[in-house]
Amino acid sequence: MSPFLLTRTLPEDATDAALRADVLHGLSRTPKTLPPKWFYDARGSALFEEITTLPEYYPTRAEREILVTRAAEIAEITGARTLIELGSGSSEKTRHLIDAMATLDTYVPVDVSESALTGAANALLAQRPSLSVHALIADFTRGLALPGTPGPRLVAFLGGTIGNLLPTERAAFLASVRGLLSPGDMLLLGTDLVKDESVLVSAYDDGAGVTAAFNKNVLTVMNRELEADFDPAAFQHVAVWDREHEWIEMRLRARADQTVKIPTLGLAVDFTAGEELRTEISAKFREDGVRSELAAAELKLSHWWTDERGRFALSLSTAA
Ligand code: SAH
Ligand code: AVI
Repeated sequence: MSPFLLTRTLPEDATDAALRADVLHGLSRTPKTLPPKWFYDARGSALFEEITTLPEYYPTRAEREILVTRAAEIAEITGARTLIELGSGSSEKTRHLIDAMATLDTYVPVDVSESALTGAANALLAQRPSLSVHALIADFTRGLALPGTPGPRLVAFLGGTIGNLLPTERAAFLASVRGLLSPGDMLLLGTDLVKDESVLVSAYDDGAGVTAAFNKNVLTVMNRELEADFDPAAFQHVAVWDREHEWIEMRLRARADQTVKIPTLGLAVDFTAGEELRTEISAKFREDGVRSELAAAELKLSHWWTDERGRFALSLSTAA
């Protein structure tokens, strides 16, 4: 069996400077915000996997449909020997691609969630023992130091996770991805598409309440890591469609006036009844917008595929 390497480029302790800085900054401003990456401790990653199986949450099924249909074509076009996947999570859908990539010898999954990375690597190696897996615990928004691996390389960013970045963050992120590509390398990008508001809102406010639990998990993370005293029951999960920006916003709305103490930051945070803390945006895209955001980062879109119902798109790009 090929070796499985796990490299940590983030501090072991989740109470690291980044969490402290994000919470201090995000809860001291108006309106209050937190970056979505703090959802994903082991429980958050498991809740996300549960979300992907919900009847209302179509993006995973739609993207899997495209991958199943196009995997052989993607393998042929890219001829990649290394697959680098950013925000790889369980790598569950990626297996369709990996199975089709006969030339592939190294898989580099990159994620902030250690539990997701080890679970994914174990499952993959059981299925394809000859594959080298070099997993990276890293923040993909912070300039990646990738291991030296054979080219051509395919960088995959699936699931529509790019939509969880704000437009300015997306521009910086795409420019950094462009910097990773050598001639012959490609980017495979998954983007969820603009559609009917009711379909979108249901996908982020499911009947079983799994997305609500996922959203509130960020409060549990702050309680554990920063000794905060958030009462998750004192907040309501909210998902709204922002028509102007074409993104879903997930928020936590205070059910009553309250003060939350975060002693490790020397902070007491006041919430008034009805006040909302924005925990995530999930932007939805159109083909023209994806093409021009890629072009702004000097990336040239060469292929665009959607699922049969046109809900989700996968695109392939090269360095322009
Ligand atoms: N690609 C998978 C998982 C999507 S969930 C799919 O399509 O189903 C988003 C994943 O990105 C999670 O596993 C989360 O831990 C990871 N993630 C979120 N923000 C991140 C960041 N800044 N750096 C690295 N990984 C991140
Ligand atoms: C990971 N990301 C693409 C998911 C999304 O759809 O924006 C996260 C998620 N948030 C709520 N449900 C799923």
